Amino acid sequence: MEYEAKYEQYRAAAQAALEEQARQCLNERSRVSEAARYSLLGGGKRVRAVLCLAVCEMLGGDPNLAECYAAGIEMLHCYSLIHDDLPCMDNDDLRRGRPSCHKAFDEATALLAGDALLTAAFEALSSAPGPACRNVDAVRTLSRAAGARGMVWGQELDLAFEQKQAEAEELREIHRSKTGELICAAAQLGAIAAGADESQRTAVRAYAYPLGMVFQIVDDILDVTATRQRLGKPIGSDQANGKTTFITLYGVDGARQIAQKLTDEAVAALSGPFGEHSRFLQTLAVRLLDREQ
Ligand code: IPE
Ligand code: IPE
Ligand code: MG
Ligand code: MG
Ligand code: MG
Repeated sequence: MEYEAKYEQYRAAAQAALEEQARQCLNERSRVSEAARYSLLGGGKRVRAVLCLAVCEMLGGDPNLAECYAAGIEMLHCYSLIHDDLPCMDNDDLRRGRPSCHKAFDEATALLAGDALLTAAFEALSSAPGPACRNVDAVRTLSRAAGARGMVWGQELDLAFEQKQAEAEELREIHRSKTGELICAAAQLGAIAAGADESQRTAVRAYAYPLGMVFQIVDDILDVTATRQRLGKPIGSDQANGKTTFITLYGVDGARQIAQKLTDEAVAALSGPFGEHSRFLQTLAVRLLDREQ
């Protein structure tokens, strides 16, 4: 199947899994849950879910289990976006082409909607139809990636460096933590769903770490080169918040070159061990380099 059709198939499977999880984990009578649903179900590229599903398929795993894990990672990601947009964080009013959660509702509701999605993510993983040891592994992998040494740490550094310019190594740590860890966890969850062995998991990590860095570098590039309309979120937000990005340190062309080199690394990490079976994931890496939203 060609790449676009395959991506759409994964995206649709993720959307269905998210709708099912939202039914199970959220509360129909609650405004906080309505806000969570608004942010969770209304758009998004679902890249993390697609990664999880594609890694699982590459390794011959059970798609039903991977779909629950994919829903979990997207719920956690969505919580991070709701909180990231709050006035005390990036103060952005547009997300996925619609008013940010705190604009469509209010700040306290958005804060709680994020909390609800964060907890629902772990409900989804722990009640997935897999062997308990895989579900525990998935919970541990996602919580480590999202927590105080992972995404939360990255967000903490990201805010701290609004006051001062980050050096190259510091910027890499911010990007690796705030974005790379979750992207890597998404791929790992696919491997866990498939019962991958250690060498397969090492290869998947070697693919996903550079990919996660590229994802945030391209996000930095789009913040200066895209339009608000196309991107579905504010442009110029990084500069307005005084962030150091790959653009401030290397310029757009320099940032693109770094991203290209990391993409080559990601592709090589899979093409060796998995050959043709990794075709979709190789193409995904290349497409994420040129994405426009
Ligand atoms: C945006 O993530 C936040 C970053 C970590 C760069 P995405 O670009 O994956 O956002 P959605 O899910 O498609 O809206
Ligand atoms: C996102 O970084 C990191 C998160 C953990 C949400 P950004 O702040 O650059 O993401 P966008 O550009 O708002 O989507
Ligand atoms: Mg941010
Ligand atoms: Mg932001
Ligand atoms: Mg950004």
